[in-house]
Amino acid sequence: MKKISLIFGVTGQDGSYLTKLLLKKGYIVHGVKRRSSSLNTHRIDDIYQEPFTHKKNFILHYGDITDGTSIFDLINKIKPDEIYNLAAQSHVAVSFKIPEYTSNADALGALRILESIVKINPKIKYYQAGSSEMYGKIQSFPQNEKTPFYPRSPYAVSKVYAHWITVNYRESYKIFACNGILFNHESPLRGETFVTKKIVKALCKIKNKKQKKLYLGNIYAKRDWGHAQDYVEAMWKILQYKKPEDWVICTGKQYSVKQFINLVSKKLNLKIFWRGKGLHEKAYNEKKQKIIEIKKEYFRPAEVDNLKGNSNKAKKYLKWKPKKDINYLIQDMINYELNELKNGK
Ligand code: NAP
Ligand code: GDD
Repeated sequence: MKKISLIFGVTGQDGSYLTKLLLKKGYIVHGVKRRSSSLNTHRIDDIYQEPFTHKKNFILHYGDITDGTSIFDLINKIKPDEIYNLAAQSHVAVSFKIPEYTSNADALGALRILESIVKINPKIKYYQAGSSEMYGKIQSFPQNEKTPFYPRSPYAVSKVYAHWITVNYRESYKIFACNGILFNHESPLRGETFVTKKIVKALCKIKNKKQKKLYLGNIYAKRDWGHAQDYVEAMWKILQYKKPEDWVICTGKQYSVKQFINLVSKKLNLKIFWRGKGLHEKAYNEKKQKIIEIKKEYFRPAEVDNLKGNSNKAKKYLKWKPKKDINYLIQDMINYELNELKNGK
């Protein structure tokens, strides 16, 4: 009997990689996409449209994480063995602009799925996509499963709710519900407005004379960046472990946004030098043209300055560790962007 999985957020970066992983492992994968006026399936079109092979093992449904009825009906109809809740308004800066919607989707979305599991079949395993953003104003360094949360955005506060309601349903109803606390993970499929994708895309275009400038916010924030492909493997391992627990997933290495820019520039053989401070800091190319500027508009009302994780628990018990380092990640993202440019995109 093939295992059945249900992925909320299947059209996102992680949803796409996780679908491919689960299909490879022989699962039947059901994915929930939300209605939008323009197509939102570009990250999964390659596997969805492929005839005869994956098609019958990969089924898409309309649904929305803010709509309890659709969630209940889908779980009731599909009867999955495993549910991965990756659906979220996942942009931290945007969460300050649409805090109520973010809370509805990111916090209550988890509750809606958990309630459905308890009512329909308490044996269904549940993965909640938690975030290192929950550590926010960090209380210890590096962060592990015991580090207290101090969220700094409506997004992070919502994820803290989702984390604790997952723990609460696990303890109250003895269901197999787990939290992954994942640090930043990127890939060629990363959303265009997250900082790594924005940097790689812009610098590739600047190198090819298709763009003149890149505007950024706080380039001194530090992050622990991994590759999404490694991280979806951890999600799956979390649900295969003998008992339901919470897990930190990270690389244990940290770079600032500015260091990330310098690494990308170096790989592109784009010589840049920095001048100025604060909002006046700028990067110039060899011809002394300004190619990067700092804009107040990209700063957040409250920032998360310093994230670096410790995933020793996952290493020891899940036998998980990241396989791809920052150099691989950047090269992978650059290759994708250069190919897009070659194809006129
Ligand atoms: P992403 O690319 O933004 O994908 C989010 C997914 O959620 C998309 O499929 C999106 O649909 C869907 N979605 C948004 N609102 C929805 C709604 N109301 N109903 C149903 N689906 C909805 O995010 P990601 O990077 O893959 O991350 C996956 C999950 O992990 C998210 O919950 C994120 O918060 C969390 N997380 C991410 C990271 C990271 O560094 N990537 C780290 C820690 C935790 P559309 O395609 O239609 O927009
Ligand atoms: N997006 C963005 N755009 N960020 C910028 C910019 C810019 O122009 N300039 C500087 N930054 C800084 C942000 O202020 C932040 O400190 C850092 O770059 C990373 O920003 P993002 O790439 O937007 O990611 P994030 O860390 O806020 O959130 C991501 O990772 C979380 C895990 O820690 C998202 O994927 C979240 O969904 C995820 O939970």
